[in-house]
Amino acid sequence: MSAGSASATEGSGQTKKKTGILRTKDIDTVLHQNDDEDHGLKKSLSARDLMGFGIGIVIGTGIFVLTGVEAKNHAGPAITISFAIAGVVAMLAALCYAELAAAVPTAGSSYTYAYTTIGELFGWIIGWDLVLEFALGSATVARGWSGYVQDFLGLPTSLFGEEAPVNVGAVLIVVVLGVVATVGIRESKWVTNLLVLVKVSITVFVIIAGLFFLKAANLTPFIPPSKPEESSGGLSQPLWQFLSGTSPTAYGITGILVATAVVFFAYSGFEAVANLGEETENPGRDMPRGLIGTLVVCTVLYLAVCFVLTGMVDYRNLSEGAPISDAFTQVGLGWASKVVGIAAVAGLTSVILVDIVGMARIGFALCRDGLLPAAVGKVHEKYGTPARLTMGTTIVVAVIAAFVPIDTLAEMVSIGTLFAFLVVAIAVIVLRRTKPRMDRPFRTPSVPVLPIVSAVTCIGLMASLATETWLRFLVWLAVGLLIYFFYGRTHSRLAPGVDAHETDEKLGTA
Ligand code: ALA
Repeated sequence: MSAGSASATEGSGQTKKKTGILRTKDIDTVLHQNDDEDHGLKKSLSARDLMGFGIGIVIGTGIFVLTGVEAKNHAGPAITISFAIAGVVAMLAALCYAELAAAVPTAGSSYTYAYTTIGELFGWIIGWDLVLEFALGSATVARGWSGYVQDFLGLPTSLFGEEAPVNVGAVLIVVVLGVVATVGIRESKWVTNLLVLVKVSITVFVIIAGLFFLKAANLTPFIPPSKPEESSGGLSQPLWQFLSGTSPTAYGITGILVATAVVFFAYSGFEAVANLGEETENPGRDMPRGLIGTLVVCTVLYLAVCFVLTGMVDYRNLSEGAPISDAFTQVGLGWASKVVGIAAVAGLTSVILVDIVGMARIGFALCRDGLLPAAVGKVHEKYGTPARLTMGTTIVVAVIAAFVPIDTLAEMVSIGTLFAFLVVAIAVIVLRRTKPRMDRPFRTPSVPVLPIVSAVTCIGLMASLATETWLRFLVWLAVGLLIYFFYGRTHSRLAPGVDAHETDEKLGTA
């Protein structure tokens, strides 16, 4: 008996069936549904494959771009400390994810965990949150891509990179990859592996080559003294500062914390490893290894890159568009700058594609479950993808990528990711109580202490994000709740009187 069906047995046997907004989806149904859709995915992935996939989508704009932006504006050389704190918070979340991913190995990840355990409303909130994370994630990485292409090819800054009033480069790459995702071209495993290799090699190259140009003067003081931040007051200051009425400052300890919350973005995406649960040979053993291994490798690489980058160039002179290749230009190593540029552009392209596909997948899952109109997620007859949904969301992402600055976008992704991690930490504690006998091939250590620490650190980082980021996030959640109460609640596949066959017909999957 698989872990999934064991837990489902307990689920259906012991839990009283809930109705209304707390109704839960049966785990057996979920596994069966996924089997049908993917024609019974082959269980072929090992922990190493999972790590390859994880590293492939984690390393992206966070390290290639945000390092420069945040070191320059908030943390100075202490950006390394910011990445270390963000890494610890991500690791705590990974330990919570690992328990659920090993016990409920489905393609829906946290959306499904919440739906099958805490109830439909929470499942919807997480699903809606994930749409935000993937959509804005692709917009963020697209702007990073644009900055590197500009730097690499010397394109006009009026059209490419952060200075452009309309970031045409970002729009271009989003639209091209949106079309690629719509016609159903997936990166082959071969391409994915190659890109992972390129990204890891280039990161190692940056660390080793950069070491030769380190200047102690650039790293001192390691934590620049805090100073009043003129540009950021009112709603652009961190929530806790806004609430406590302290005046906004850059650098110092506050600067480190603000940068931590933004660069948390760099670790986002590792949880997508949990989506591969069904294709993993031995999820109980390999899921935790894949998740934690991905984070360990990324954290080590990130810390080393941050240290080297801020050691090569005075943080005040870092570029905000393509800081790593620009650092090599500044130290007179033009060829290295070009090599880094090519690798970054290739690596970032794959992250954008994965995000767009992920956004369409989660949107499709919401349509399939009846929480969004089935017509929106209709599968294209020729391409076999939810074409309307993919192109529709691509256009929205392209517009956002055209106008919204990269750090604002990254903050939105960070708050969305942290919120999902918070719910996962709570789910671990709740499930230990409500389903104590569920088959758990991996157990999060020290429950409830570790999930509580994870939840508290997530809240702490969320509080370090700008007040306006909170407002935007709350608006997004409010819109989500309206959609749920006016549509999803009554059209859900689990709602009384809903004909599931009709939904399938509208989706084109009947
Ligand atoms: N973690 C990914 C990045 O940094 C999303 O681009």
